[in-house]
Amino acid sequence: MEVRHALSSDLNAVMGVATTVFGAQRAGPVIRSHVERHHLLVADDGDELVGVVAYRTDWFQCTMVSLVCVSERYRRRGVARALVKAVEQMSPSPRLYASAEETNAVAIRMLSALGFSPSGHIDNLPQGYRELLFYKRLHP
Ligand SMILES: CC(C)(COP(=O)(O)OP(=O)(O)OC[C@H]1O[C@@H](n2cnc3c(N)ncnc32)[C@H](O)[C@@H]1OP(=O)(O)O)[C@@H](O)C(=O)NCCC(=O)NCCS
Repeated sequence: MEVRHALSSDLNAVMGVATTVFGAQRAGPVIRSHVERHHLLVADDGDELVGVVAYRTDWFQCTMVSLVCVSERYRRRGVARALVKAVEQMSPSPRLYASAEETNAVAIRMLSALGFSPSGHIDNLPQGYRELLFYKRLHP
């Protein structure tokens, strides 16, 4: 499996992976804005795109993982781990953030397993749940 920058020809496949998980209303704008800034990486197993990570580098002068998702049948094989590692290697800042809805136990476990620590939360979002923030210091 290769982790690489998304190409414009990947857009439909990326939308497919992300909308299955997050729905078109949430995933569409996130994917489009990140592909324009070249802040979208994909996991390519040769035959298909099996995962995607979007990140931004202008979040309070830190890097924020905006979205990570992996096709259901490719989960628990280290795809998300590889995608987040690639963001770490590209991050201009040593401060990396990510977030997860408070109800998303799998995402919270994944972020802990990848070395992130709790770092506050955001209330009053339209999703109706708290968004939990997580932080990881790179190159300590
Ligand atoms: C969360 C998600 C991205 C994880 O992707 P993944 O490729 O399966 O994750 P990895 O295989 O790289 O797992 C890395 C570690 O996270 C933890 N983890 C991942 N999935 C887990 C699960 N279902 N239950 C418990 N721990 C889990 C494990 O510690 C795992 O390491 P291990 O397999 O060596 O034990 C995937 O489940 C997904 O797309 N979910 C829907 C979208 C989502 O919730 N995104 C996260 C928003 S932050």
